[in-house]
Amino acid sequence: MSKKNICRLAVLVSGNGSNLQTIIDHIEAGKLKAEITCVISNKADAYALERASRHGIEGIVHANSDFADRRSYDARTVDILKERKVDLVVLAGFMRILTDVMIGAFPNRIMNIHPALLPSFKGLHAQQQALDYGVRYSGCTIHFVDSGTDTGPIIMQSVVPVEQNDTEDTLSAKIQKAEHKTYVAAIKLFIEGKITIDNRRVLIAD
Ligand code: GRF
Repeated sequence: MSKKNICRLAVLVSGNGSNLQTIIDHIEAGKLKAEITCVISNKADAYALERASRHGIEGIVHANSDFADRRSYDARTVDILKERKVDLVVLAGFMRILTDVMIGAFPNRIMNIHPALLPSFKGLHAQQQALDYGVRYSGCTIHFVDSGTDTGPIIMQSVVPVEQNDTEDTLSAKIQKAEHKTYVAAIKLFIEGKITIDNRRVLIAD
């Protein structure tokens, strides 16, 4: 944390960046004591980069093809994040699996958002998986990132009802609304130092 107690964030993205936008809006409204030191995207055409630039936030493109393997990709990312003295790494639609190089450099300091109630429906197309399974409720999960895919300690979850006529698009839209609220709430808990981890259980102070 910086001297002024401002949490230094980095947000990693691949696409639209609506979660990024919500975080920016909360910071600008004084509701999150944080600053975004950079936005890193593995896609040059990610709309999230445009959102960052509109708010004067540095955007960095790390194309997958610029690196020989996943570990060297992560090593370069770690260098950038360390240079910027990042306290918390926020994955917001970042479509890459992290290696131990990143996870080891930021233990329990990388958050991810997943569009389902973990441990159900890990991986891609979680909303379609939920529809296909026929669940009555789905939602989103904010968790710390560990070495598995969507397996890390769960910080917060929000529940969204699944209606009979929902499609992947309508369910995704409902879940995204919940995501925006839940992600900033989880980041706020981190900033306020209210999160501790006991084994894999996340304990939240009142
Ligand atoms: C979200 O649905 C999130 O759950 C998933 O990727 C999507 C990112 O959306 N990991 P956006 O780029 O923040 O709009």
